[in-house]
Amino acid sequence: MSQPERPRDTVTVTNNADGKSKELPIYRGVHGPPVVDIRSLHKDVGLFAYDPGFKSTASCSSEITFIDGAEGTLLYRGYPIEELTEKSCYLEVCYLLLNGELPSATEFDEFRHMITMHTMVNEGLKDFMRGFRYDAHPMAILVGVVGALGSFFHDSLDVHDPRQQEISAHRMIAKLPTIAATAYRYSKGEPSVYPRNKFCYAENFLHMMFAYPTYKYEVDPDHARILDKLLILHADHEQNASTSTVRLAGSSLANPFAAVSAGIGALWGPAHGGANEAVINMLERIGDPKEIHKYVERAKDKNDPFRLMGFGHRVYRNYDPRAKIIRAEAHNLLAKHGDLGPLFETALELENLAMSDDYFLERKLYPNVDFYSGLIYRALGIPKSMFTVMFAMARTIGWIAQWKEMINDPERVIGRPRQLYVGPAQRTFSPRTERGHIPGKTGCAGKKHRCGHGHKWPDDKKSKKNKKGQKGNDCEDC
Ligand code: CMC
Repeated sequence: MSQPERPRDTVTVTNNADGKSKELPIYRGVHGPPVVDIRSLHKDVGLFAYDPGFKSTASCSSEITFIDGAEGTLLYRGYPIEELTEKSCYLEVCYLLLNGELPSATEFDEFRHMITMHTMVNEGLKDFMRGFRYDAHPMAILVGVVGALGSFFHDSLDVHDPRQQEISAHRMIAKLPTIAATAYRYSKGEPSVYPRNKFCYAENFLHMMFAYPTYKYEVDPDHARILDKLLILHADHEQNASTSTVRLAGSSLANPFAAVSAGIGALWGPAHGGANEAVINMLERIGDPKEIHKYVERAKDKNDPFRLMGFGHRVYRNYDPRAKIIRAEAHNLLAKHGDLGPLFETALELENLAMSDDYFLERKLYPNVDFYSGLIYRALGIPKSMFTVMFAMARTIGWIAQWKEMINDPERVIGRPRQLYVGPAQRTFSPRTERGHIPGKTGCAGKKHRCGHGHKWPDDKKSKKNKKGQKGNDCEDC
């Protein structure tokens, strides 16, 4: 990987408390704001940088993906997302993200053959899956099963060997659809369906999701085409929460299956990839379009934890380009099917209302990729519990490409942030019998003792009733 350009500009940081000063280099990338290299800040000035949520921190240099949040631009290896979704296919995009360049016709055929040859999973992995409760969420299964892949492939766990890196990458890209579809079939109590080599990536997934031994299932080519587009749109998104998790986990030299499994866990949250499922839950909860106004008001209320799911983004301060493409695809589907159901109408109305409200306009909060993706998945027959799994399946290429870049980066060190400690100052341990109270214990001596939940005990606690109206060892507030 090429290193940051040699610094021409600098920033000088002076600690006004002791006058210590340091000139720090500024690097310029190809696109995007310049970065200041603060690695020597602690050594030379005695300070750490404080940046919860990494709002102003570039954690690495990368050649893979670029987002211009103000313009609403997304590039994979320099190619605009609009062109890739229009002219390419998911497997070609996988090759591009992993290797840096688009493949020649021969390279593409070889790559497709390689991925196709790795789609089966070891039968033992299915036994592992059977250990999950019958109604397990498919994301829970995915986190566990992808982590467990490391126990099946001892031959590709040397993270420093380029050939083993490549094999692990191919295995993960190839097996994720099989694992995802098998997790779904398991959660339905249905037989798993083996992959078929004649199908392309998206067709194969739909086949494994919906085919039955008892009747012939034909993959709808329109559905496969739309799914392929959705996979491209979700393939990578630079240093988001799950990708940063993969890089951080991998920086300890953990094997790539463990690192990607950590990323899947991070993706699951509703603030990240779990938003697609949360959007549908929200639209279902809104129900009647007349209620939309109420929910928009709730989203604006700082005392209410409710947020409009599928709205806002850390980087985009413009319409998410992925959402634009998905929205257009939703309209195409609408034209074909005539109806995408009442939730689609509610979503359109919700977007209209939010986009004419000063709160959202001032904060530049636009629909993101997850706002319409769930509605399309529904139209393809994919159930809600699988939405975030679909995201994970598509993002696996991004995670593994970023992992490979991280592991081969000459500047790589273990990721280990520092902190601003605000807990108790150093103090001396006192024996239990000499302490004023014992947290969580009943019947302790001393005045201000507290229950296990930190509530103050009433003096005559045994005689008082708690909130449930019961007498006993719970305090009044429990
Ligand atoms: N509804 C209402 N208010 C919002 C929303 C929202 N969805 N998103 C942000 N805001 C407000 C936020 O309260 C803050 O207001 P103020 O300046 O008055 O304090 C302001 O907008 C800036 O937001 P922020 O919380 O500083 O933004 P962030 O970068 O920390 O969070 C986010 C980004 C995506 C977590 C957040 O916008 C959110 O929770 N959105 C809903 C969940 C969602 O759709 N997530 C999917 C993201 S795209 C898929 C992916 O790549 O993960």
